[in-house]
Amino acid sequence: MLVTNPESPIGVFDSGVGGLSVLREIRRELPSEHLLYVADSGYAPYGDKSDEIIEKRAVAITHFLVGQSPKAIVVACNTATGVAVETLRRQFSLPVVAMEPAVKPAARQTKSAVVGVLATSQTLSGSKFSRLLAAYGADVRILLQPCPGLVEQVEKGDLSSQETRSLVEQYVVPLLDKGADTLVLGCTHYPFLSPVIRAIAGPSVAIIDPSAAVARELRRRLQMGGLLSQDTQPGTERFWTSGPLATAEALIGQLWGRSLDVQALPSPFCLEQGLAR
Ligand code: DGL
Repeated sequence: MLVTNPESPIGVFDSGVGGLSVLREIRRELPSEHLLYVADSGYAPYGDKSDEIIEKRAVAITHFLVGQSPKAIVVACNTATGVAVETLRRQFSLPVVAMEPAVKPAARQTKSAVVGVLATSQTLSGSKFSRLLAAYGADVRILLQPCPGLVEQVEKGDLSSQETRSLVEQYVVPLLDKGADTLVLGCTHYPFLSPVIRAIAGPSVAIIDPSAAVARELRRRLQMGGLLSQDTQPGTERFWTSGPLATAEALIGQLWGRSLDVQALPSPFCLEQGLAR
């Protein structure tokens, strides 16, 4: 069913809390919109799951969100985008806006002609990402850096411990040693580690997060469909999680910057329960 009401909410999801970095930009770009967010933390990380499981999760969560009558869906997860965005666009007849690692702007702005891409192994090995490399990587050396463990650190709310710093260092330093002057954050969890990445990379390295561009693309799509909210009041946010509630409330509150209520994702949408816990 196609929803054409401009006052309907926008549904956003991620494998966990990382997509809040995208939600934050959407809130900045579209202050009056009502936002729904699902953190699939019970199944995070997606990065080490099979395509089949990731696609099932993306479809189940989108079904849940569609039940809230949204006017658009934002896949605030690079890994789910790489695996499932085509299926979502086929199965659901509403605008689906998704992530793309910022290889194109990085290739344009690098001076050293070396770019490092930090992402999950799933994202880096996907065919969508290969196409991106083929399109924009010809004149530039693009170094691919999978970062196992980083999503887990953010899911624990551990953004700056020595353990987190060491992991980031382990992934970022080899890229700098090979001459990268531009780093692409190809996973929506990583912007929460930006201060640590910046401290390690130093001030002269560009760190590119595509979230603001995704928020602008969402605005463009809504505008095109006559779906931008006309309300002048600030929009609201509602949160759901497939993970433990108390942990989610504390963590989402920490990352969103205020205390808030988080609801449990209803059990029919947690079909693969047990797989990831
Ligand atoms: N935020 C997800 C992404 O953008 C993390 C994936 C994962 O859970 O491994 O890729």
